[in-house]
Amino acid sequence: MFLTKDEERMLDGEEGYAVKKSMEILVALGDIYGAEKLIQVGSVQVAGVSYHNLGDAGLEFLNELATDGKVKVLTTLNPAGMDLENWQNLGIDPEFARKQNLVIDAFSKMGIIVSCTCTPYLIGNLPRYGEHVAWSESSAVTFANSVIGAKTNREGGPSALAAAFVGKTPCYGLHLDENRVPDVHVDVTADLSKFSDWGALGYCVGTQAQSKISYITGIKDASVDELKTFCASVVTFGSKPLFYMKDITPGSENVPLPKEKITIDKQDIQDAYQTINDETEDIDFVCIGCPHASIKEISQIASLLKGKKISPNTEFWVATSRPAKQLADKRGYSKVIEAAGGKFACDTCMAVAPLKGRFRAIATTSAKGCYYSRHNKMLTKMGSLEECIAAGVSGKWK
Ligand code: F3S
Repeated sequence: MFLTKDEERMLDGEEGYAVKKSMEILVALGDIYGAEKLIQVGSVQVAGVSYHNLGDAGLEFLNELATDGKVKVLTTLNPAGMDLENWQNLGIDPEFARKQNLVIDAFSKMGIIVSCTCTPYLIGNLPRYGEHVAWSESSAVTFANSVIGAKTNREGGPSALAAAFVGKTPCYGLHLDENRVPDVHVDVTADLSKFSDWGALGYCVGTQAQSKISYITGIKDASVDELKTFCASVVTFGSKPLFYMKDITPGSENVPLPKEKITIDKQDIQDAYQTINDETEDIDFVCIGCPHASIKEISQIASLLKGKKISPNTEFWVATSRPAKQLADKRGYSKVIEAAGGKFACDTCMAVAPLKGRFRAIATTSAKGCYYSRHNKMLTKMGSLEECIAAGVSGKWK
C-alpha cells in the first residue's frame, strides 16, 4: 500500500506509540485487502466497549493506547456493558461496574466522546452523503451505507480505533464504488403493518440474500425508526452492511436493477416470526430499544404506559442513548415510564450487558434483540410495541 511521507513518519513512531500501533494495524489490513492507499475519514464509531466482551486483556490494550493516543476525528462509542450512571438500579455487579468504568476512562482519555450508543447518527455523529467514515457497529454501519449513503466497511474495534488515531482508513471494500453494486433484486410484496414486521423483513432479506448486496423494491414508505430496526436485522441475519431501497437510499435511482430476483411475500414474513419466536407464555423481561430507542419511540412508550403498571414479575427496560433520555426527562416521558415501573438502560443494551442467566424469556420489538437474547439463553418473543407493553404489564405474551 502506498504511504505518504506523513504516514511513513507515523508508522516510524514519530507521533508516538498509539499512532505507530494504529498505522501497523491499518497497513496490515490494507495489505490483506489489497488497498492502494489510506483515505481520510470524517468520523469513527468504535465498538467493543463492554467489559463483558473486552475482559482484562482488552482493558490492558486500551490502557496502553491511552498513554499517548488522541483521536484525530470525531469519534463516538458503541453501547457499554451497563448504564454508566444508573447501573445499580439495573442489577449490575459492583466489580463489573468498576472494570467497565476503567474501560470508559481509557476511551475518554483518548478524546473519544463517551456517547455509548449504536445510533450515533441520532446524537450528532452524522456523516453526509458520500462521506468516508470508519464505523464498527453493524446496524450503524448498515444505516450509514444504506440510509445516509456514506461509505464505510464494518470495522472491528481495533481497526476503528486505529482509524481514529490516524484519521484515515485503508481504501478497500465498501469505500470503492465498484464494490457497492447490487447483486440481487429483492421485491417486497408483503404489507408491513406493524413495527416488528421490519425486523421480520430484515430476517427474510438477510437470510435469502446472504453475502449479496440487495436492491429492494416494493417499499412505499419507511420512517427512520423502521429503517434502523431493518438495518439491524438485515445485517444480523445476512452479512452485507449495504442495501439499496428504491426511493429511500440516496442515489438509488441511478443504480442498475440486478437480474437475479427474490420475492418476499406475506408468507415469508409469517415464517420469519415463526423462526424468531419461541414457545413461551410467561415473560420476565421486556426490552425496547434495539437499536437504541429514539425520542419518538420513547414518546410512544410513554403514551402506551401512561396509567399502567409493569408486572412485579417482569423487568422492563428502555435502552437508549443518554441524550435521548435527557430529552425524555425534559418532556416528562421518563417520569411516566418510571411511574409505571419501567427503567431506562442508557449507554447499554440487552446484547452487551451481562444478562446471561438473569431472565428466562424476553419480549422485544427487535429481531436483532431476539438473536442476541438467544445467545444469552433467553426464550424470545418479537412483536409490536403494543404487544411488548402488554407483555410487560401482564407478564404474559398473548
Ligand atoms: Fe444496538 Fe445492542 Fe441492538 S448495540 S443494535 S441495542 S444489540
